[in-house]
Amino acid sequence: MSYLIKSLRRIDTFSALSEPDLIALASICIPAQYPARSVIAREGFDAQNLFALISGTVGIWVDYDTEKADLLAIREAPCLVGEMSVADDLPRSATIVAASPVDGYSIEANYFRKLLAKRGSIAFSLMKGISRIVRSSNDTFISELRKRNKELIETNKKLRKAHQQLVRQERLSNLGKFSSMIIHDLRNPLSAIRGYADLLALKLEGKSYTLHKYASQIRQETSRLTNLTGELLDYSRGEIRLMYSPVTVAELFAQLKKNIETKLAAKELNLTWDNQFTSIVLLDFNRITRVLLNLLDNAQKACGKKGEIEVSAKGSEKELILCVKDNGVGMDEKTMQHIFEPFYSTSDRGGTGLGMHIVKTVVEAHKGIIDVRSEVEVGTQISIKLPLQLQSGSI
Ligand SMILES: Nc1ncnc2c1ncn2[C@@H]1O[C@H](COP(=O)(O)OP(=O)(O)O)[C@@H](O)[C@H]1O
Ligand SMILES: [Mg+2]
Repeated sequence: MSYLIKSLRRIDTFSALSEPDLIALASICIPAQYPARSVIAREGFDAQNLFALISGTVGIWVDYDTEKADLLAIREAPCLVGEMSVADDLPRSATIVAASPVDGYSIEANYFRKLLAKRGSIAFSLMKGISRIVRSSNDTFISELRKRNKELIETNKKLRKAHQQLVRQERLSNLGKFSSMIIHDLRNPLSAIRGYADLLALKLEGKSYTLHKYASQIRQETSRLTNLTGELLDYSRGEIRLMYSPVTVAELFAQLKKNIETKLAAKELNLTWDNQFTSIVLLDFNRITRVLLNLLDNAQKACGKKGEIEVSAKGSEKELILCVKDNGVGMDEKTMQHIFEPFYSTSDRGGTGLGMHIVKTVVEAHKGIIDVRSEVEVGTQISIKLPLQLQSGSI
């Protein structure tokens, strides 16, 4: 009996009770043990008992054993659980489950009520205990509610961002579908403008220096736009189908010179050509021209108004090495890592960031490799190595 009274006194709700009160309480306690995971009282069932836990831990669950099961609280002995059964006749509002082996006493609610009627001090202690529980569960709920609210706000933010991204992606994909058509159509008026500008420049040659300069400017800018549309078109088409033909490096260089002469006119760029490769090779002439034009365009941008650019060709029986070298601004580590990514550009003159991506795609379609060497403030050297022995099925 004295062990039982000592145990009951360790329970917060009963700690202030007098010895006679505790003795009276002990007389209605029935020893009860529960193995771990056993249900001590089930939600929705009649609440006929309360439990004085002496050792072990219990979990208080709502919707226990269902998909929406929610753990409301964990209570550790010594404590009283299920005491609400004394205050009302409603079914259990939660399930009490032993989280570990539990040892304690079951007290029948009816007997307990009778005891309360006789001993006001026990009723008062119970009232205080219940009020403590209500307050603390209120606090738990509020903090839980705040936590969930915060999570909800976060989720909502993520959802909104994902939605925006989706809308953007859809727009981009629509744009992608039509872009090759639009870009293709842009090329016709562009070549007409270029043609008329050529004509104007020809007519004004030697007559009006200023007007001739304007016409040259128009030619220059239209060829920039033509280049840009070419880049976009290649990118939007995705896969590249090469058109191989036998060519010489001399022909390649001649084509390049024709393409860039107007561009270079206004700048103090020292452009040198060094061709040590005389054999005939099989490659896609237009695409390799585009590759070298892209490399040259980047080299010019890197040099600004003044600088030196060298275009060279050398090789062996096995490969052709085309190289564009400049003494421009060079690239840092970060730029080097990203140059082949589509739309990556550090250019403030509205670069598409597609040039190097196209270079890589075309070179790889030729089964070639690219070697990039660069140093900030020193310059850049980009070599493309094209194998001459075409692998079977590559034509
Ligand atoms: N020769 C070079 N010198 C310095 N930076 C270069 C050179 N070539 C490429 N880059 C860097 O790589 C980036 C990507 O090049 P590119 O794909 O051609 O795009 P864009 O020329 O439109 O900027 C450039 O913005 C630049 O930062
Ligand atoms: Mg470029």
